[in-house]
Amino acid sequence: MDWTRGIEIEPSLYAADFARLGEQVSALLAAGARVLHFDTGDGHFVEPITIGPVVLRSIAPFAHAAGAVLDCHLMVDDPVRHIEQFAKAGGDSVTVHVEADGAREAMTRARALGLGVGLAFNPETSVPAVAAAAGGADLVLCMSIHPGYSGQAFMPEALDRIRELRRLLPAGVAIQVDGGIDLETAPAAREAGATLLVAGSAVFGRPDPAAAFRELAAAAA
Ligand code: DX5
Ligand code: ZN
Repeated sequence: MDWTRGIEIEPSLYAADFARLGEQVSALLAAGARVLHFDTGDGHFVEPITIGPVVLRSIAPFAHAAGAVLDCHLMVDDPVRHIEQFAKAGGDSVTVHVEADGAREAMTRARALGLGVGLAFNPETSVPAVAAAAGGADLVLCMSIHPGYSGQAFMPEALDRIRELRRLLPAGVAIQVDGGIDLETAPAAREAGATLLVAGSAVFGRPDPAAAFRELAAAAA
């Protein structure tokens, strides 16, 4: 997956205004967003039920037409049950949690379907454990909040965890960070070694999401 080789701000659609989703996504694509982050929560692995493949199916065609990809973050138990639906709905990559049952099988299944593969881990999970489980992944996602909701504060201890992860992972595996990324934390996460920066409320919580995206991209460059 080529897009994991660069530096990206990934707008997290979970924080969008769903009554204006198409309009907001179009504005972000026009502003240069090339990786859209799509959060699925199942109400079990995480408390909230968020958005799933039926929404992905609506967004994917015009994201793809603009040359963008959909990077799907599965905050779900038993992810293997869902991989095929994400592939069919137009997902380009799926990231599953190491804490979920069957994460390894889900990664293998995703790869077999031609999807990019990520492995995410929660703030309580040991960094060496996730690094050891990340064989075959394109990216490892370090959560800088407890997963579930947009709008939480960045946990500063994530920076040391990103540094440790960078030391342990092969150079070709990208580090993604998700939770509380804004104009201050984006450069700090970049310095620590993350290159894929997910931003929900720092994009959609602002009056002009496209302008907010451009500012974040400049701050992270
Ligand atoms: C929540 C999701 C995040 C969320 C980030 O657990 O995984 O992607 O949308 O939102 P912010 O950037 O507001 O913390
Ligand atoms: Zn996410």
